[in-house]
Order: sequence, then C-alpha cells, then structure tokens
Amino acid sequence: MNSTNLHSRIIGSGRCLPERIVSNGELAANLDTTDEWIRSRTGIGQRHIAAEGQTSSDLAFAASQQALAAAGVSAAELDLIIVATSTPDFIFPSTACLLQAKLGAKNGAAFDVQAVCSGFVYALTTADAYIRGGLARTALVVGAEVFSRILDWNDRSTAVLFGDGAGAVVLRADNAPGIEACALHADGSQAGILSVPGNVCGGKVIGSPFLQMDGQAVFKFAVRVLDEVAREVLAKANTDIEHLDWLIPHQANVRIIEATAKRLGLPSERAIVSVERHANTSAASIPLAFDEAVRDGRIRQGQRVLFEGVGGGFTWGAVLFRF
Ligand code: ACO
Repeated sequence: MNSTNLHSRIIGSGRCLPERIVSNGELAANLDTTDEWIRSRTGIGQRHIAAEGQTSSDLAFAASQQALAAAGVSAAELDLIIVATSTPDFIFPSTACLLQAKLGAKNGAAFDVQAVCSGFVYALTTADAYIRGGLARTALVVGAEVFSRILDWNDRSTAVLFGDGAGAVVLRADNAPGIEACALHADGSQAGILSVPGNVCGGKVIGSPFLQMDGQAVFKFAVRVLDEVAREVLAKANTDIEHLDWLIPHQANVRIIEATAKRLGLPSERAIVSVERHANTSAASIPLAFDEAVRDGRIRQGQRVLFEGVGGGFTWGAVLFRF
C-alpha cells in the first residue's frame, strides 16, 4: 500500500438492539401521553429498551461481532477501537476498553468519544484521521447507548423520545476513498438546552442524573446546523447534493430529518429513516440506520452516503463517503 495516499474505507457493519420493544401504547399506560401525540410530534412508534444489567459494552460487543464478520476481519487485526457513548458502563475504564476485552482484541488502542448524539461522526472522523495519518490500519468504530438509564420515566416530555442500541463499522486503510470529507463543530455555550447536569461526587449524585431538554430550541438548532454541515462536507469533496445517493442524519425526530432533507433539496426518499422503530438512540442512531439499510439492500457498494449528527454540547458534524 502507498503510504503517501492513505484513505479509510468502511468494509463492514453490524448492529444490536435489545430484545424488549416498548410501544408508545405501553408508555401511555403509565405516562400522561398518547401514541398519536408521540407519532405526530416525533415519528416515533416504538423503542428497544435494554434488559436489567445489559450495558453499552454488551450491546457494542454484539454489534461489533456482526461488523467484524461482515468485514471478514478478526479481532486480532484491530489496531484501534473507538466507542462513542454518553452512557458508559462505568466512569472508568472506558467502554472501549471493556469492549476490547470482550472481543479479545489485544493489538491496539481503545478509547471513548463523548459527543452525545454526534458521537458516531466524531468517532468516525477521529478513526479516519488515525488511518490517513498512518497511526492505524484497521479500526472498529461503535456507537452504543443505554439512554433508558438517564431518563426520568415520569417526565413525558423526554421519556418518550429515546431508546437503547448499538451500531458498529469496521474501517480499513485503502489507497482510494472511502471517506471523502469530514467536518466537526462544537458550541459549548448551548450546553443548557440539552444536558444531564449531574455528577457522582463523594458517593452521591450531585445535580441531576436525568436528561433535560428545551425541545423547541434543540429543534431549531438541529435543523440549522444539519443543513450547514451537510453543505460544508459536500463542498469540501467538491461535489453537490445531486451526486449524493443517501443521507443518514441522526435519528432524533422525523420532522427534523424531513426539514433537513427539504432545506438541502434532497428527495425525502433518499434520507434513511429508522426513528419510527428505534426512537433516538443518540450515538448509536446513525450506525444502526446504516447497517439496516446495507443489510436490506438499499445502500450498495460504490454509492455515496452522508452521515450527519447533532447533539448535546452542542456538537455537530458530518462524514461523506463512498461505500
Ligand atoms: N405527550 C403528550 N403531551 C406532551 C408530551 C407527551 N409525551 N410531551 C410534552 N407534551 C405537552 C407539553 O406539556 C405541552 O403542553 P402544554 O401546551 O399544556 O404546556 C405541549 O405538549 C407542547 O409541548 P412542546 O414542548 O411545545 O411540544 P413540541 O411541539 O415542541 O414538541 C418535541 C416537543 C417533540 C420534543 C419537539 O420540540 C422536538 O421534536 N424537539 C426536538 C428535540 C429532540 O428531538 N430531542 C432529541 C434529543 S436532541 C438530539 O438528539 C439532537
């Protein structure tokens, strides 16, 4: 391989959703909400919820095993593992290290990335930089979340929005892209509109351990930056929306996805939507939607795909690639 012309290419993907499915109707039995309200405001019909004791690293492990099998890569070949999560198993060690042990992947680095719902595009961009810089050859990038653990199940304005799951991709160095362009952004001054403002200190939770959100502010912010960052990566790759086969935005809300596609001038059928069945799985949402669309034959080799995420921080970013 020519080391002066390194790129990274996605060569396999996988996913894991917990077995238990909770419908809107089931939520409405205990919460002052309705299936109609949730569907019309968000497009969500159901979510998967992790079993007691099932952790982000458990979901990440199952998704990673599928991704490695699809790529035809053994765990020993991995020289980089990055897990994007805001719901790690522990404060430390990182979920990536726990995953590394479960996989028996002993030949490389492992660390977590914390950028909430943009976590997967942050992790993918980081892995791409490692590979292009010659620091890694074969990377596993995972988004894994158990958001059900940080929700106040008595708060109807947030509890209905999220679910649990994990998605993974294997990246490999190649002389042709692969990943064509990436962009990442952050604005910490917007921290207050979406947060879990708590910490563990002296054996106690200080602040709140539950997700808090200003839904309308998040909606407006998300639609604006998803439009901007999509245009930014297309311009970086010297291309345009006409030459894009698939858009996979973070799966938070079908209205945000539709508004983003409309602003970009992309026919809505070219945006992959899985939020109806998965709800918002934060860092896992993009790789979950991607793996589903690869396995059901919508996304094919050679097609051009744009991932874009936005989430707490605030953070946002995009990755444009040929599959
Ligand atoms: N069921 C029934 N009523 C509800 C529910 C519910 N689950 N939740 C809130 N309501 C009520 C509110 O109490 C309010 O009642 P009121 O008028 O009597 O005070 C009414 O519905 C309207 O509330 P709003 O918050 O104004 O509703 P809105 O139309 O803005 O929809 C929503 C809320 C769906 C959260 C919307 O703002 C949104 O989609 N925001 C984007 C947020 C998002 O997707 N966050 C995900 C995490 S962020 C990310 O991933 C980027």
